[in-house]
Amino acid sequence: MSTMSLTDCRGLNITAPNATVIERFDGLLDDIYYYRLGVGDRMDALLEEHPDFTLANVLKGYSLMSEGSFRLQPTARGFLERADALPANPREALHREALRGWIDGDLERRAAALEQILLAWPLDLLAYRQHTGTLFWTGAKAHQAEVSMGVASHWSKEVPGYAHFLSSHGFSLEEVGLYEVAERCSRAALAINPQDLWALHGVSHVLEMQGRHVEGVELLTEARQFLKKYNLFRGHLWWHLSLFLFSQGRFDEALVLFDTEIYPKSSTFYLDVQNGVSLLARLEFQGVDVGLERWQRLGEAATKSAADCTLWFTAMHYVMAQARNGDRARLQSTYAFLAESGKTSSQALLALELSKAAVDFCEGKPQESLAQMLALRQRHNQLGASHAQQDLYDQIMVTAAMQLGDLPRVRQLLKARLATRVWDSTSWQALEQRSRKIDEHADEPDSSAMVRSALRWSL
Ligand SMILES: [Fe+2]
Repeated sequence: MSTMSLTDCRGLNITAPNATVIERFDGLLDDIYYYRLGVGDRMDALLEEHPDFTLANVLKGYSLMSEGSFRLQPTARGFLERADALPANPREALHREALRGWIDGDLERRAAALEQILLAWPLDLLAYRQHTGTLFWTGAKAHQAEVSMGVASHWSKEVPGYAHFLSSHGFSLEEVGLYEVAERCSRAALAINPQDLWALHGVSHVLEMQGRHVEGVELLTEARQFLKKYNLFRGHLWWHLSLFLFSQGRFDEALVLFDTEIYPKSSTFYLDVQNGVSLLARLEFQGVDVGLERWQRLGEAATKSAADCTLWFTAMHYVMAQARNGDRARLQSTYAFLAESGKTSSQALLALELSKAAVDFCEGKPQESLAQMLALRQRHNQLGASHAQQDLYDQIMVTAAMQLGDLPRVRQLLKARLATRVWDSTSWQALEQRSRKIDEHADEPDSSAMVRSALRWSL
């Protein structure tokens, strides 16, 4: 089948069999960024009918890689090789380079290629979302915001897919603490589509970081009626709702959400595992008995996927599930996988060290755990994830210090932790207040209630 150079809905040249196919491709991006159900099937159908569509092959490769599984990498390479054999304009050739860099584990090459695309074609939505999304998982929050700022002036409500820019821009800005403008962007995307999950997510993060849990419960309770219509990402919004409930001390309701929406059955989807483990751990740090069955559910997923997952932030979550299940043998094979991966990936090596520290904590060795976590503290961010997700590191360290009765360290960590949420003059006042409260409780014989309250951001 012959291909020709046409343009997509944002006016970018694209090599494709015909204009109808491009419309389907544009629609696929829309489906992906709105987390609609069945998008994988539609992508496969498009490729089956048009195997000679260069960018569709790259998109499939990106999708497979974003699942964070070693197992899928050969399949992703197969789609790259198919794209390599097809005609490509300069923009499409750079997309192939980005995918090649990703598959080869060369994250700098991936970033450089995507950056190059956005310099010349700032309205390339695929490059923009790939670039900001993958930077997120390397902890490059400032870089992510820079990329977003770099293309912002090219977007406007007249450009198709504007909401997909706005929601991503909002989240990028939220992660560098620009809460006011982040909320404005995310809410503008919600005005275009009130069921935009990524925009809801951006607002949720702002509310979480500013301690606005009442509004958070309200926002996500309203979303209950439509979340089921969307794909698995919805579980992460349920997790955000559970954090708002957690802040209010509504632990039973958070557990009900765990059982019904966040982790109702064993799932190997990395985000489900992150959500599930981090909620159960937080609840346990509050003294809640979450039982063994829930950990077993997560442990099953760890058995299947811990030695395959390439989204390194997840590793610590897998090993915590394995440790809580007393699954020593499998824990060793996860360590072996991380050590082997660590020969070529500094992220995998860091994940190994953090995993061992988390397991020490789970196995009743708070001193070893805290020492190791503290030694790595300034590098935690390198495994990516949001501030809200990364809070698990601080939760572990504070709880370990509390178990050791090391109150000066508890107070220092609680105050340092405030720095992840304080960026402007309003939140600075809140910081000072919270810091003072931490000190006011310093001389109490039992400060555990204060510490638990601080861990819920409710001090
Ligand atoms: Fe989130």
